[in-house]
Amino acid sequence: MEKKVILLTGASSGMGYETAQMLAEQGHIVYGGARRVEKMGPLKQYGVKPISLDVTDADSCHEAVKTIVDNEGRIDVLINNAGYGSYGAVEDVTIEEAKRQFEVNVFGLARLIQHVLPYMREQGSGRIINTSSMGGRLVSFMGSWYHATKYAVEALSDGLRMELADFGIKVILIEPGGIKTDWGHIAADNLEKSAKGGAYEEIAKKTAEGMHKQYSGKMMSDPKVVSKAISKAVNNKNPKTRYLIGFGAKPLVFAHAILPTKAFDWIMKNAS
Ligand SMILES: NC(=O)c1ccc[n+]([C@@H]2O[C@H](COP(=O)([O-])OP(=O)(O)OC[C@H]3O[C@@H](n4cnc5c(N)ncnc54)[C@H](OP(=O)(O)O)[C@@H]3O)[C@@H](O)[C@H]2O)c1
Repeated sequence: MEKKVILLTGASSGMGYETAQMLAEQGHIVYGGARRVEKMGPLKQYGVKPISLDVTDADSCHEAVKTIVDNEGRIDVLINNAGYGSYGAVEDVTIEEAKRQFEVNVFGLARLIQHVLPYMREQGSGRIINTSSMGGRLVSFMGSWYHATKYAVEALSDGLRMELADFGIKVILIEPGGIKTDWGHIAADNLEKSAKGGAYEEIAKKTAEGMHKQYSGKMMSDPKVVSKAISKAVNNKNPKTRYLIGFGAKPLVFAHAILPTKAFDWIMKNAS
C-alpha cells in the first residue's frame, strides 16, 4: 500500500480519533489536528502526530499545513472531519452561534482546502475527503442550522470535484448516519440551551431527551464504520464520490427521495 501524508481534522474524538488510529496502523503518515491536543496523546502509540488546530483560526490552519509540508515535503490527503451540531429552532439559535457553526463546519473546511490545493496541484495528485452527513441530504427536527452547514458541504464538494478533476485531485464525501460519538450529546445540549425560556422550550426538551437516549443506546453505529469508509476513500484506486454509511443513512435518504415532503417531515418530527 502506498504510504500517504494525511491531515485529519477533529482527531481528538469520535470518528476522527478512530480514523487517525486506523490510517496510522495501515502505515500512513497521519497528522491529527484538533484544539484539545492532550486528547490525542494516546494516538501517538500508533504513530499519529498530534498538532494543535483550530479550523476557525486562519493562522492555525496555515501553520498546520506548513508544518506538514515542511516536515514531509508533501501532503497527499486532507480529511475534513471536524464539526459539531448546534441544534435549536431557527428562531432560537443566535445568528452569532449560527455563524460560529458555519465557521467550523464550512469555512474551516474550505480554508484548509485552500491551503492544501497549491501543493496538491503541484504534485499532480491529492484527495480531499469531506465529512458531510446523511444530514447533508435530509433535515432532522430542530437541526435546521446544522443541516444548512452540511448541505453547504455537499454543494461545495460537488462543485470542487468538477474544478479539480483536470488536476488529478479527487473529492470524496463521507455521509454518516447515526454514529455513537459525543456529537449527539453536544447537539442535544445545544438544543436545550438555545430553547430555555422560549416558545420551543418544551418540545426542545423532549427532542433533546430523545437524542440523548438514542446516542446512549445500542442503535447507533460504531465509529469504525466511518473509519472503514474513510480508509476506502484514502486507499482505493478509484474511490466512490460518496460513502453513505451508518445507522439509518441509506433507508432515510431513500425515503427522502421517494416520499412526498409532508410525509417525510412527519416522520422526522415524530422520530425524535
Ligand atoms: N456522530 C454522528 O452521528 C454524525 C453523523 C453524521 C455526521 N457527523 C459529522 O462527523 C464529524 C465528526 O463528528 P463526531 O461524531 O466524531 O463528533 P465528536 O466526537 O464530537 O468529534 C468532533 C471533532 O471535531 C473537532 N472540532 C470541533 N470544533 C473544532 C474546531 N474549531 N477546530 C478544530 N477541530 C474542531 C473536535 O475537536 P476539539 O474540540 O478538540 O477541537 C472533535 O475532535 C462532524 O463533522 C460531524 O458533524 C457526525
